Amino acid sequence: MATVTSTNIFSVFLPNQLGNSRRCFFKPSTIPIIKRKFVSKIRASSTTFVETKPTETIVVEKEGSVNKNILACPICFEQVTWIGDPCLSLDSATGSCLQCNTCKKTYSGVQSHFDLTAASGAKDYGESMPPATEFFRIPFISFLYERGWRQNFVWGGFPGPEKEFELMKDYLKPVLGGNIIDASCGSGMFSRIFAKSGLFSLVVALDYSENMLQQCYEFVKKEENFPKENYMLVRADISRLPFASSSVDAVHAGAAIHCWPSPSTAVAEISRVLRPGGVFVATTYILDGPFNFIPFLRPLRQNMMQISGSYAFLSEGELKDLCRACGLVGFTCIRNRRFVMFTARKPN
Ligand SMILES: C[S@@+](CC[C@H](N)C(=O)[O-])C[C@H]1O[C@@H](n2cnc3c(N)ncnc32)[C@H](O)[C@@H]1O
Repeated sequence: MATVTSTNIFSVFLPNQLGNSRRCFFKPSTIPIIKRKFVSKIRASSTTFVETKPTETIVVEKEGSVNKNILACPICFEQVTWIGDPCLSLDSATGSCLQCNTCKKTYSGVQSHFDLTAASGAKDYGESMPPATEFFRIPFISFLYERGWRQNFVWGGFPGPEKEFELMKDYLKPVLGGNIIDASCGSGMFSRIFAKSGLFSLVVALDYSENMLQQCYEFVKKEENFPKENYMLVRADISRLPFASSSVDAVHAGAAIHCWPSPSTAVAEISRVLRPGGVFVATTYILDGPFNFIPFLRPLRQNMMQISGSYAFLSEGELKDLCRACGLVGFTCIRNRRFVMFTARKPN
């Protein structure tokens, strides 16, 4: 049994629909009991947010066995088996190998990550993704991302990683203690926050960009006492997730859905891998308000999509519709100017 107690003072935005209950209780169990105490100082920012000063105690007591056996072959979605010792730790990817139980394809770990893309291991074949995906594979962009680039998102209303984590924690309460995928993690800032929070049994940082994963690896290496156990870096395409169906408790996707080649294929994949009751939480930006007055916005967006491969959402309704179409329910969101954080879950 692990018990962790910490007190943090944050200045955060909190959604007003979250109510006053700051506790989540599960039945007594045999595995990790994680206790966290948060004192949060809340700043109101717009009509969607409320001013309050809660003292938060999150108690996670999860029943049954925690599912860490989630990796699957991206070709046939059947489970993979470790050849040699299982390596759910950042330090032991090199030399480790996974094999699909069904198609027998093997996937090797390199220093920073496991390559679980369908084309991994191909020698002559090479393909390129749409520009919005390829862009983040450029080494210099990956290097810059956490060294100034991401910080600029504040101009669009993104509160910043720590505050975004505080916001999403309310959405993630039903799945605390379980596994979480940080989908399109970039250089892994949220995956590192998840791991250090001690609130999850397994954290998988996933991105298509090998250079982003390399950056994440280097950031982790520099951190003292980083909990490397049960923390993995995985290269994969969001449209072909290397996880068994209904095996994942939570998927987070920060500032990424607008970069995905096909948001609907990706959200459908997320829906496939989430277990019943599993939670999807994501952030993006929405071009509404004054943008509504731009003539021909929809055809303009279509052209932008074709050129850049990125998708601009024009309303919260679009996100809700996308989640519903992909089999997720209980959509809710919070806004701060262009920024939106939304959540939906797999039905029980
Ligand atoms: C703007 S960054 C977001 C990084 C981070 N999640 C954050 O909150 O700052 C978008 C990320 O999406 C990733 N991405 C784009 N297309 C992808 C795909 N097809 N599969 C997986 N990741 C993809 C990029 O490599 C990039 O790291």
